[in-house]
Amino acid sequence: MIFGRVKSLDAILATAEKKSLTRSLGAFQLTMLGVGAIIGTGIFVLTAEAAQKAGPGMMIAFIIAGAVCAVAALCYAEMSSMVPVSGSAYTYSYAVMGELLAWMVGWALVLEYTVAAGAVSVGWSGYFVGLLREFAGLDLPAAFTLGPIDGGIVNVPAFLIALLVTWLLVIGTRESAAINAVLVAIKIAALTLFCILALPVMQSSNFEPFAPLGFGGISAAAASIFFAYVGFDAVSTAAEETKNPQRNMPIGLIGSLAICTIFYILVAAGVIGTVGAQPLFDANGAVLAAGSAELAAACATAAGEGAVVCSKEALAWTLREIGWQQVGNLIGLAAGLALPSVILMMMFGQTRIFFVMSRDGLLPPVLSKVHPRYKTPHVVTMITGVFVAFFAALFPVGALAEISNAGTLFAFAMVAIAVLVLRRTDPTRHRPFRTPAIYLVAPLAVGGCLYLFFSLSGYTLTLTASWAIVGLIVYFGYSRSHSHVGRGIVDTHEDDADVPPQPVPPLPGAPTPGGKQA
Ligand code: ALA
Repeated sequence: MIFGRVKSLDAILATAEKKSLTRSLGAFQLTMLGVGAIIGTGIFVLTAEAAQKAGPGMMIAFIIAGAVCAVAALCYAEMSSMVPVSGSAYTYSYAVMGELLAWMVGWALVLEYTVAAGAVSVGWSGYFVGLLREFAGLDLPAAFTLGPIDGGIVNVPAFLIALLVTWLLVIGTRESAAINAVLVAIKIAALTLFCILALPVMQSSNFEPFAPLGFGGISAAAASIFFAYVGFDAVSTAAEETKNPQRNMPIGLIGSLAICTIFYILVAAGVIGTVGAQPLFDANGAVLAAGSAELAAACATAAGEGAVVCSKEALAWTLREIGWQQVGNLIGLAAGLALPSVILMMMFGQTRIFFVMSRDGLLPPVLSKVHPRYKTPHVVTMITGVFVAFFAALFPVGALAEISNAGTLFAFAMVAIAVLVLRRTDPTRHRPFRTPAIYLVAPLAVGGCLYLFFSLSGYTLTLTASWAIVGLIVYFGYSRSHSHVGRGIVDTHEDDADVPPQPVPPLPGAPTPGGKQA
């Protein structure tokens, strides 16, 4: 039976119990952890993409995406508090829905993490290029700062930042609690400053027409901008270090999502109200797809120069446009400093998933090799890094973000289903955090994820389907016959001493996991 291969939840939990970390995180720390992991390329860069898809209606898109994340987050929290081990969504699916679906979740998480790291690298590149221009008077040629679809040849800064982060990961760098706290403060300060300067000078006429492409445009923007919320799962993964998780988890999750949603709506309003956010159309009145070659061409014309949808550094650009040149540069600096840590967290998450899948026999054992000196999974980190750098060098940020969203939405929907299934099949098992109103919240999460998934562009859906087919070929060609569970080997490696630590930066007051701190 194809769904018959399950991992024993009891065996997984037995190993998880052995390591029991100190419960030291409170609601405030969790919320800050969430805000730190969430704010990134989404708001700093993809605001321009959302405007191209929805116009001023992108404000509604931010609310829709935030609401879907909130219900998905509540399901995710129940799962991760029960199975507080690395690769949790994959491991949990393995125990509840069997190997094949777990494989598909793990395979989808590759899209989530690796492609997202590529997207954030491209987002960083846009700001970096702006900073070089403003501070050093250096205008890098577009051929080497944009990928081919955006009208360039290769995005060198994005390529280099991805390799730099890979190197940091190989030598075992983790973000320290202090650096994480500083980055959270920088991001919040930057967005607050933006709101203070932009909101008072908004003009209501800029909000008309509010939804030039109708509700379809708003849905498409919501599906893209979902990326701006990805990262809240970092909060869930801290479940076992949380004091009173039943109370603090939902506060941390919903609190960080709520703070980000409010910031995002205000920032979007600031952009729309000051510089306008109408999409660019072609000569026949058809909307130009974000990231498409046509849009890139339209952006090279005079009309494009005055449009936020063409900016690669939307927030800095907006402030410069309304006369705050230096503050705009400061916002650019904030993004330039903060985005690499988002890349680091994403790549960290990827290596962790691959590592566990390899130890389960589903991927070749070489991927779980640990460096003798640095104690990091250097092989899988370098392979991941090469892919991230390749994606970053060649593809537009919007396309990468959408592909990453497809993988994330699939994984979140599967988790919500699995949480629901386990409530029925194993109702008495101890759950440190129980999703409130599960029979309402889980179906809403599944429905919300499906709605956003199918609002992604046809191009993204085709690519995702192709990725799934490749995944099935790998599974039936290699993984199925090498699987430890399939061969009757009962092993749970999620918490082996040499497993790299969670992709979550430690917080002040939290137990410090091993590894060198940056
Ligand atoms: N939410 C993260 C970002 O916007 C992934 O960059």
